[in-house]
Amino acid sequence: MTSVQIAETVEELQSYLGKARADNLTIGLVPTMGFLHEGHASLINASTQQSDLTVVSIYVNPLQFNLNEDFDVYPRDVSSDLTLCKDHGVNIVFMPSEDEMRPFLSEKPPNLGEIVEIYEGESRPTHFQGVATVVKALFEIVEGNYAFFGEKDFQQLVIVKQLVKDHSLSIKVVGCPTVRETDGLAKSSRNVYLNQNEREQSVVIYQSLMAGSEAISNGETSIQNIELLIREVIETSPLANIDYVGIVDPLTFGTPDNITNEVRLLVACNFGQTRLIDNFSAKREVVSNQ
Ligand code: PAF
Repeated sequence: MTSVQIAETVEELQSYLGKARADNLTIGLVPTMGFLHEGHASLINASTQQSDLTVVSIYVNPLQFNLNEDFDVYPRDVSSDLTLCKDHGVNIVFMPSEDEMRPFLSEKPPNLGEIVEIYEGESRPTHFQGVATVVKALFEIVEGNYAFFGEKDFQQLVIVKQLVKDHSLSIKVVGCPTVRETDGLAKSSRNVYLNQNEREQSVVIYQSLMAGSEAISNGETSIQNIELLIREVIETSPLANIDYVGIVDPLTFGTPDNITNEVRLLVACNFGQTRLIDNFSAKREVVSNQ
């Protein structure tokens, strides 16, 4: 276990980072909303491997929750978060209060175009504006070399990359693979909301994405057929309530006419009050003639 510094103010954080910069150390940032699990641990591991110093930010960002969402009850467990950070070699945990962050969040939200209005953005209006505002503020505060985000929130990852490009920020955004439970459910802080039946049936999301990607790998090129297949698998669960199924170009988020290149399969689905999202990359298997 390494010792971890805790910074509750930007000033404290800057004083730790100032020393690191003076020593020419590279800085990796893992932005989180806390309630850390193995998915976050994998981002931290990627950061500690790639950077000299790792900062984890823990901030439940009110701007990215819509009014009907779970901001007030969002799961929090600071003591277990700090243990996970210590165990994984984090150097600094930045845990600002809302008052501390407010001055950094007052800028007009970055304009990110249509991608913030589709899929997650359509179901959760203003969500991505809130994410982009806080991520940009964290990037400016930390001035890190790398930032690590999970592919589980694939649309968020694409939007953050676009934010960096649009604003010519010097940080490199690194996407890390989704970490899953043994039955395939993507790890998420919100999984704790699921009751036993919902938890058992939530595996249909993973199964539907597997079915979709297998069909594509075997040569299916029809968007409609893949969407239908994914829906059919999810609908084997009586508790599942599909929000959307998307088959998109992984860079533009546009829907191709046919599946000829790599696509991202996207699913959002409610189980009771809990909204789960997941995604898979899929492409046609190249069959060699030999
Ligand atoms: O993915 C998350 O946990 C959040 O959206 C993030 C990136 C920490 C911004 O609040």
